[in-house]
This record gives sequence, structure tokens and C-alpha cells, in this order.
Amino acid sequence: MVFDRLLFHVQRISMLTSYVPQGLVSHSATWLISGVAGFIGSNLLEALLRLDQRVIGLDNFATGHRHNLQQVQQLVSPQQWQRFQFIEGDIRDLATCRQACEGADYVLHQAALGSVPRSLDDPISTNGTNIDGFLNMLVAARDAGVKRFVYAASSSTYGDHPGLPKVEDIIGKPLSPYAVTKYVNELYADVFARSYAMQSIGLRYFNVFGPRQDPDGAYAAVIPKWLAAMIRDEPLYVNGDGETTRDFCYVQNVVQANLLCVCTDNADAINQVYNIAVGGRTSLNQLLAMMRDVLLPRFPHLQDFAPVYRDFRVGDVRHSQADISKSQQLLGYQPSHTIQQGLAEAIDWYVASLS
Ligand SMILES: NC(=O)c1ccc[n+]([C@@H]2O[C@H](COP(=O)([O-])OP(=O)(O)OC[C@H]3O[C@@H](n4cnc5c(N)ncnc54)[C@H](O)[C@@H]3O)[C@@H](O)[C@H]2O)c1
Repeated sequence: MVFDRLLFHVQRISMLTSYVPQGLVSHSATWLISGVAGFIGSNLLEALLRLDQRVIGLDNFATGHRHNLQQVQQLVSPQQWQRFQFIEGDIRDLATCRQACEGADYVLHQAALGSVPRSLDDPISTNGTNIDGFLNMLVAARDAGVKRFVYAASSSTYGDHPGLPKVEDIIGKPLSPYAVTKYVNELYADVFARSYAMQSIGLRYFNVFGPRQDPDGAYAAVIPKWLAAMIRDEPLYVNGDGETTRDFCYVQNVVQANLLCVCTDNADAINQVYNIAVGGRTSLNQLLAMMRDVLLPRFPHLQDFAPVYRDFRVGDVRHSQADISKSQQLLGYQPSHTIQQGLAEAIDWYVASLS
């Protein structure tokens, strides 16, 4: 009754009491996670192995790390780790995608080149992985008869539309090559659903954070980058005036959403895209204050902490906040962690990894 346990996990992490999915399959499943050595992929891997699922992982280490896989290995039992098969390979190669999809019941497609600035610096590489690679994965999953294809979409698809909070059906024009690629993913998934009766679900993640997110490099995300700067007592740069807002989402909320997408047998929930966030709005200045408060007891040098403000960054949207009512209603999604709860849960990992 693997799916019963899976649901128990979903319910536990989401603190759900009323979500009762229908028609669950009572057998052990094989999942393919692309981008498994990355931040979100490795958190999905950890959750599935803890549930005694079989997992095939695909990654070329473009931005992911072997140490993420090693950390997961340390967190699960040897028996659980034996259920993991890793393929080092590139989603831009169709044969590799076919090999990875062989025998998979479900695909959680996370592999992509993230980062708006990276895509502005090198749009061809972003396009190659995020569009060519995505299409390879769709074709391979279709031909392998995968039951459901869940993929990482992005809040960047809202582009220049000023409306808040963001509702799935109302988007603007993309502000970066990265945003173009993530929107094209949604279009392809929709066409594959119509043309080949594939079941897919896109999850528009909003600024995800948590353990194993890379703090280093030019394209690092703001939370690990700033926590690293605070812990290491290095200069911390804020792009703009700090009043830019985001709907920061702890990675366990994202794990919950992915599992719900596979568990649901609500026909209306399939072949849709969903916002995955908390539904909150936090300014960068508020975020800085929260992070400092969490770290101050361990790092007294932060008493005198002061950030350096600099120009706004090209391609960034000014405000972002999700309306999560669609994912709540159709998937039964209920975020288990606020931003503060996520920071509190992850702080030991950050301190151990970034010191
Ligand atoms: N982290 C966020 O806030 C956020 C927000 C919106 C969407 N997303 C999406 O979620 C997904 C996961 O993001 P993440 O934050 O874990 O990033 P990440 O960079 O940590 O993970 C991406 C993984 O994909 C792998 N990869 C890249 N190109 C590949 C290729 N050609 N072949 C095989 N593997 C390849 C990388 O090595 C890496 O392990 C991405 O699709 C990203 O666009 C993330």
C-alpha cells in the first residue's frame, strides 16, 4: 500500500485533515526525477526514498552537485538508497531521455538552467536545455507510456503583467529568455495533452528556498546567497531599494505539491498549471530582517549588519505574489511552511553548510 503511505506523508507534511483522494493505486511505483542532483530535485529524491519508492535520477551536473546526492544518501537507510538508480546524462540528448524514462511510472521533470540573469547572458544555452531538453523529455515520456508528467514551470511566466496576486490564467509578456522557455514548456505540455492524450501538470514555483540550494556562483538565488554573506561576514548586496516583494516558498511545500499531482485522480486537476507558493508577500528588506533575527543568536557580528544597496537588476519583476486558491481547490495543496517556519527548519543546514 505504497500510495497510502505516500498520502500519509502528503497529509503529514501539509497538515491536511480533509483531503481524501479517490482511486489510489496500491502498488510500488518508479519515479524519474530529472535534475535530481539539484536543489529541488534532491529534496524530491529524499522524500520519495523515505517513502520506499524506486527512483531513477537523471542529471548532468550543469548546476547540480554530487554532494547533494551524498547528503540524501546520509539521510535515508541503506535499503532505501538501494532503490535509487542514477544516470549521469543530458536531457538535450533524446536517447538519454528515453533510457531514463524506461520503466518509469511518473516523471517529475526539474532539470533546467534556472536564473533570469543567466538567460540574459546566454540565451542559447538556456533555450537548449529548457526547451529542446524539455521537448525530449516529453517525447521520451510519451513513448515510454509514463502515466503522468509533472514539470517545474515558473512564476516568471507572469512577466510584465502588473496584477496582484497572480492568477494562473492572466499572464503578461515575458521579461527574460528564461521566462520565455518556461512559458513554452506550458504550451508544449498542453499540446501533448491534446494531441497524444498525455497527462501532465505544470507547477509554477515562486522563489523556492531550503536545504541544498546552491549559495555560490554568479546566479545564486537570494536567500542562500544572503545567508552565506551574513554567516561569512561578507558584503551583502541588495538590487534596488529593497522594497521589491516576493512570495518565498519553502521547498517542503514544493515537495508536497509534486506528490499531490501524482496522487490526484481528480480529472479536472490534470493538464493544468498551478501556482505553488504560500500566498504571501515579503519585501527584500523584510526578508533581510527575518534572516538576521534567525542568525543573530549564533552570529553576534550581525548586530552591526548593514546591506549595500545598488541598481535594480534588468529582467526582474517588481512585485510577485501568488493566488494559490486553484492549487488548494483542485489539488488539495495546503502550504505546510510559512517563510519564517521554513527559515527556522532549514537554519541548521544553512549554518552547517555555509559557515
Ligand atoms: N528554485 C526556484 O526558486 C525555482 C523557481 C521557479 C522554477 N524553478 C524551476 O525548478 C526546477 C529546479 O530548480 P532548482 O532551483 O532545483 O535548480 P538547480 O539548478 O538546483 O537544479 C536543476 C538541476 O538540473 C540539472 N540540469 C541542468 N541542465 C541539465 C541538462 N541539460 N541535462 C540534465 N540535467 C540538467 C542541473 O545540473 C541541476 O541539478 C528548474 O526547472 C527551475 O527552472 C525553480
